[in-house]
Amino acid sequence: MTANNSPSPQLTVTGAPRAGGAGTIGDLTVSRIGYGAMQLERLRDDRDAAIALLRRVVELGVDHVDTAQFYGNGFVNGLIRDAFRPEDGVVVVSKVGADPDPDGPFPMRPAQRPEQLRASVEDNLVSLGLDCIPVVNLRRLDTRPGLRAEGDQVVDLDDQLAEMTALRDEGKIGAIGLSAVTLDGVRRALPAGIVCVQNLYSLVTRDDEEMLRLCTDEQIAWVPFFPLGGAFPQLPKVTDEPAVTALAETLGRTPAQVGLAWLLHHAPNTLLIPGTADTGHLEANIATGTVALDDAATAALDAVESRPLTEITFG
Ligand SMILES: NC(=O)c1ccc[n+]([C@@H]2O[C@H](COP(=O)([O-])OP(=O)(O)OC[C@H]3O[C@@H](n4cnc5c(N)ncnc54)[C@H](OP(=O)(O)O)[C@@H]3O)[C@@H](O)[C@H]2O)c1
Repeated sequence: MTANNSPSPQLTVTGAPRAGGAGTIGDLTVSRIGYGAMQLERLRDDRDAAIALLRRVVELGVDHVDTAQFYGNGFVNGLIRDAFRPEDGVVVVSKVGADPDPDGPFPMRPAQRPEQLRASVEDNLVSLGLDCIPVVNLRRLDTRPGLRAEGDQVVDLDDQLAEMTALRDEGKIGAIGLSAVTLDGVRRALPAGIVCVQNLYSLVTRDDEEMLRLCTDEQIAWVPFFPLGGAFPQLPKVTDEPAVTALAETLGRTPAQVGLAWLLHHAPNTLLIPGTADTGHLEANIATGTVALDDAATAALDAVESRPLTEITFG
């Protein structure tokens, strides 16, 4: 699952054209259009369909897949273990900082303490069937919306980075990323050699523009989560935006494709991980790589108003 050598950066190791072209995450070359596996939780009752969707991911030239142990309490990681073979060359990115909580009010609970980060890496290694997870995001609880840290779950970033660095030195993880983090947190983590930042960001929620610029300057991959606005109804949707729907009609594309294309055009270090449990949507999202935005289209999308995350209640 971790072999990532190809004769051409434009091709995956299976020989498929890389979806959206080639991007980088640390030392690894990956497709700029990846896949976020969280929505596969919804296919718990149709495991064969979920595995078939992941096989389609590989066929379509995607070799960057995002997951977590707390997606379906290990269900999604088990799908990834069973669907991908080492010769597919898929770079699997997981995250630690929360544990599954299937009976709780939320399917996950904070697990920020260093020993919990280590235990979570071990859980991921088992459920993914890997000796080393190529990239692991330290999922902080610093940003809205979502879970907040309280009590002994308020942990200093430096203490967490020390544990993540030790895990990298031991070869259990290949590289370190950050998620749900502040600008100050990214700055503080730079000496640890982080390779990606995964925060909530889309055309309609652009609080982190300054952080994105820092990541571009530092050659850190910017991997926005909820790139379409997510599946939760409380969150603003890229596809509801009039400028997006109007442009989609002009271009003969879907609103989702226009929103994802804007992300790809907006910064060269952006890697997409749109999530879907629908094969048709997967194919449409991957075809985003062929959407061209001219200056007028880009200007119209740039002018879309961003909704501050502090105004969004969720969780
Ligand atoms: N680091 C973190 O804390 C964090 C948090 C959340 C998520 N993530 C990662 O980010 C990934 C992306 O987030 P997400 O999946 O929640 O949100 P998203 O990609 O913004 O949106 C997913 C939603 O959009 C729909 N959709 C996808 N493609 C579509 C298309 N072409 N046309 C119309 N609708 C479409 C999906 O429904 P269908 O299934 O019906 O297509 C689903 O309802 C996740 O899968 C996960 O890997 C990370």
